[in-house]
Amino acid sequence: MLEIKNVHAGYGKLKILRGINLSVPKGKIIALLGGNGTGKSTLLKTISGLLPLMEGSIEFDGQILDKKKPHEIVKAGLVQVTQSKESYPAMTVEENLMVGSYVRNDRHGVQQDLEKIYEFFPILKTRRKTLSGTLSGGEVQMLVIGRGLMANPKMLMLDEPSAALAPKVVLEIFSNIYKISQTGVTILIVEQNVRMALLLAEYGYIIRDGVIMLEGKSDNLIHDSSVRESFLGGTVADTSRELSA
Ligand SMILES: Nc1ncnc2c1ncn2[C@@H]1O[C@H](COP(=O)(O)OP(=O)(O)O)[C@@H](O)[C@H]1O
Ligand SMILES: [Mg+2]
Repeated sequence: MLEIKNVHAGYGKLKILRGINLSVPKGKIIALLGGNGTGKSTLLKTISGLLPLMEGSIEFDGQILDKKKPHEIVKAGLVQVTQSKESYPAMTVEENLMVGSYVRNDRHGVQQDLEKIYEFFPILKTRRKTLSGTLSGGEVQMLVIGRGLMANPKMLMLDEPSAALAPKVVLEIFSNIYKISQTGVTILIVEQNVRMALLLAEYGYIIRDGVIMLEGKSDNLIHDSSVRESFLGGTVADTSRELSA
């Protein structure tokens, strides 16, 4: 569904990504993993059309995205939930969700999707008239995922959905991501929480300094000695402490 070939990209003249190849098959959950500052968000921004391609090509659902504008990419069905977890704090939860549907003109479908999102995240329904500025970190993460779903995407790219959340909340979010994928939405998840992401995803890519260092089935990566040494050395509690630091 998403084919990334030899992608080079960065900021101005500063090249961060140096020849990324990555593929996300339809209906799957694929993980992009790596430490801080390795180029994960840069890759998502490049795919979403927020950063220009310096070299290489990106194909999504049979369309070449290389020169497309961000809103055209959303319209093609590829939606990014950014790392910043920005909501519109002075708007209600429901108004925030509706923002996600701005690219659509099928009112009936929008209403149906709103109900679907309230089924995934019942807390958002309870709080639908609440200003989003008063939500907890976990609730905001659910809100921004829900907002992404309101665009009716074929594929979602999630940038560090577990960041700064308590382990129990992370578990809830990840179980919802799984349910979302079961409805047919293809998912690329970016994470520093390697353990959790490999439990969720079928296949993973490990990025370092703008290059894919290693890729493979999640089962193989979990047992790989370099992955264990770099990412799985600590306990789950250590990992969550690092995340909230
Ligand atoms: N707006 C920017 N301008 C210049 N350099 C940036 C910008 N954003 C990120 N970078 C640099 O690009 C590199 C990769 O960043 P990023 O893709 O955000 O990493 P990750 O998401 O893996 O933590 C880092 O060295 C970072 O400092
Ligand atoms: Mg990032």
